[in-house]
Amino acid sequence: MAQLEVSDFAEAVIARMGDCKDARFKQVMTALVKHVHAFAREVDLTPDEWMAGLQFLTATGQKCDEKRQEFILLSDTLGLSMLVVALDQARGAKALADRPGDKPTEATVQGPFFWPGAPKRELGDDIGEGHGEPTLYHGRVTDTAGKPIADCELDVWSGDHDGFYDMQKGDSMSLRAQFRTDRDGNYRFWSIKPTFYPVPGDGPVGTMLAKMGRHLNRPGHMHMMLQAPGHERLVTHIFVKDSPYLDSDAVFGVRNSLVVDFPKHPPGQAPDGRTMDKPFYTAKYDFRLVPSAR
Ligand code: BEZ
Ligand code: FE
Repeated sequence: MAQLEVSDFAEAVIARMGDCKDARFKQVMTALVKHVHAFAREVDLTPDEWMAGLQFLTATGQKCDEKRQEFILLSDTLGLSMLVVALDQARGAKALADRPGDKPTEATVQGPFFWPGAPKRELGDDIGEGHGEPTLYHGRVTDTAGKPIADCELDVWSGDHDGFYDMQKGDSMSLRAQFRTDRDGNYRFWSIKPTFYPVPGDGPVGTMLAKMGRHLNRPGHMHMMLQAPGHERLVTHIFVKDSPYLDSDAVFGVRNSLVVDFPKHPPGQAPDGRTMDKPFYTAKYDFRLVPSAR
């Protein structure tokens, strides 16, 4: 029997998949085995180092529960989540290449703090609950041809004025809601101007980042998820233009087209007619969704 040497193990593993019936799975596993083996050879991985790696992955799994997803955080902080988002968007752009119209709104990471089933609120409602600096978010949702999308579901969520999400603090939802666009595709709601905040650093991923010499912070952003029949779902953020960390987001999620001015206004009448007795901000952003391929 021919003995396997350092350069042979990857090909031997790949050769065992001859009976694999799922062509895409086989393609993905073949590349995974190739690259993982190449990585071990490149760094000349020692048994102690690999054991430390396995212990790290074990601890990452053990840190996960219904509210804490340490593996997503690992993928996010290694830039892999954002790479997958960007690949998806590039694939979509290719499919749209021969159709007239504007570019769709860029997507970014969903992150671990989306909580399905947020309360349904009316357009113009305030979900800020006096938490921070009041901000009116408004704009229009259209398709890439500019046609308004009525009744588009718009899920929004953010951290509070200290940068903590509701699910990090307890079991009740706050600073999140679901709205629906009006017949002309318009949306508007009040919340807070989001502040920069650190991703959770009290688990194995935090330890890894500290050892890499990296900070944990994300620039201020409002999460938005848009869904309408006949259109691709969009998961994105609006980033605050004057926020720190726009150039070094811990999860690499910033896209220039998503960075938005938050002008500050003195007390008085807001653009939606509300009378404000303290200064407030506005953030205007128009979204463009991709019509579904099917
Ligand atoms: C967030 O923006 O909520 C987030 C994204 C990735 C990792 C941690 C938090
Ligand atoms: Fe966030």
